[in-house]
Amino acid sequence: MIKAIRGTRDLLPPDTDLWNFVETRVREVFQRYNFHEIRTPVFEATELFARGVGEDTDIVSKEMFTWEDKARAQSEKSQSLTLRPENTAGVVRAYIEHDLGRSGQLQKLYYIGPQFRRERPQKGRYRQFYQIGAEVIGPPTAGSELPIRDAEVIEMLVALLDAVGLKGWTLHLNSVGCASDRSVYNKALREALAKVKDKMCADCQRRAETNPIRVLDCKVPEDQPIIDALPKISQYLDEGCRLHFGEVKAILDTMGIPYQVNERMVRGLDYYTRTTFEFTHGDLGAQSAVLGGGRYDGLSESLGGPKAPGIGFAIGEDRTVLALQAQQAAASVPVNAYIAPLGTGMNRHALKLAHELRKAGLVIDIGDESFRMRKAFEAAEKMGAPYVIIIGENEVKADAFAVKDIRSGEQVTVPRAELSQKLSSK
Ligand code: HAM
Repeated sequence: MIKAIRGTRDLLPPDTDLWNFVETRVREVFQRYNFHEIRTPVFEATELFARGVGEDTDIVSKEMFTWEDKARAQSEKSQSLTLRPENTAGVVRAYIEHDLGRSGQLQKLYYIGPQFRRERPQKGRYRQFYQIGAEVIGPPTAGSELPIRDAEVIEMLVALLDAVGLKGWTLHLNSVGCASDRSVYNKALREALAKVKDKMCADCQRRAETNPIRVLDCKVPEDQPIIDALPKISQYLDEGCRLHFGEVKAILDTMGIPYQVNERMVRGLDYYTRTTFEFTHGDLGAQSAVLGGGRYDGLSESLGGPKAPGIGFAIGEDRTVLALQAQQAAASVPVNAYIAPLGTGMNRHALKLAHELRKAGLVIDIGDESFRMRKAFEAAEKMGAPYVIIIGENEVKADAFAVKDIRSGEQVTVPRAELSQKLSSK
């Protein structure tokens, strides 16, 4: 028996109805905010993620599905390829490759699709998972750096979660400063860690040397008081970063969007500058981050592109659906009627009627002329159809059909022209 690979899963009905509901709703919101869809390949050159996301991150150093793609012809070179662990690097690559900045306008892009990380699978954490993401990127002259962009993206997130009906989230907000702030902060952290790291976990001892800011991600309980006493990033922001963050918070305050400043939230990707954020949800257990994002003002340049500041986010769609299910959300569209053809030669009439009713916007299912009535009724009941429409020779002749209300058992004859109205009444 061949099974789905660990960390991957089949999405089945009725869950897929909820997935589609989420995707339909977010597309409507993206449209209202003037975002347009981008679809980038599922695999890219490994180097894109190494340079974009950062060699030192968990994602690049241990979670990527990477393989050596052998040359198939003399004209080709073998190259290292990777299934995308996230989509921001791919979007910025596409921005550079297609010179999307040439219009001088902001690019407001969104994507929905699978991402791949070789993490330890558990509830809410998969090796193939899905993200709904968006990126706002463009030349500085288009205003891509301005705090209003950050605030608009966060406000849109609130609208997105609202549109899918997700309640009870918490917005964690931080500013990680710009590259120069971070090198000063890293130095301060390294110095402070030198005095205390011996008392910390093995991971922290390693991070204290390689990437001290990652120490802030540590979840080991004994390390928490030590980490809480370390220098804070806010003390190292330069004037520009401090004003920028202040303005983002001021706009959110005016809009009445609640947030918590969380100075330990540094995010697991190296491209972030200035504003970073995460939304968590209480129903998700250990994997509580339902989405994450932030600003990445230097990413385009680090990939060899023009100066193109940007900000974006990715919502974990798997976790969103889990949280909605915990709220008992269901998104199944009810079946309006089940058509039961009765006797030889009736299938064609039944299918013709089904076609007409579906065209009128109704959800219709259909049996087969060989089914006994009892079987047709059982099927209709199981799928929750309120009516069974019976089509036999007499009905075809009269061009009027027997419509049986499953609940009351009442049966009436309805002319073809009145059928769709009768069925939509329930
Ligand atoms: P991220 O925080 O790595 O950010 O991922 C965003 C969200 O994807 C997480 O909050 C989580 O909901 C979901 N997610 C991540 N890994 C898994 C997994 N193994 N299983 C299930 N869900 C997962 C990014 O990917 C950035 N590219 C976001 C961004 C866009 N920043 C700027 N623009």
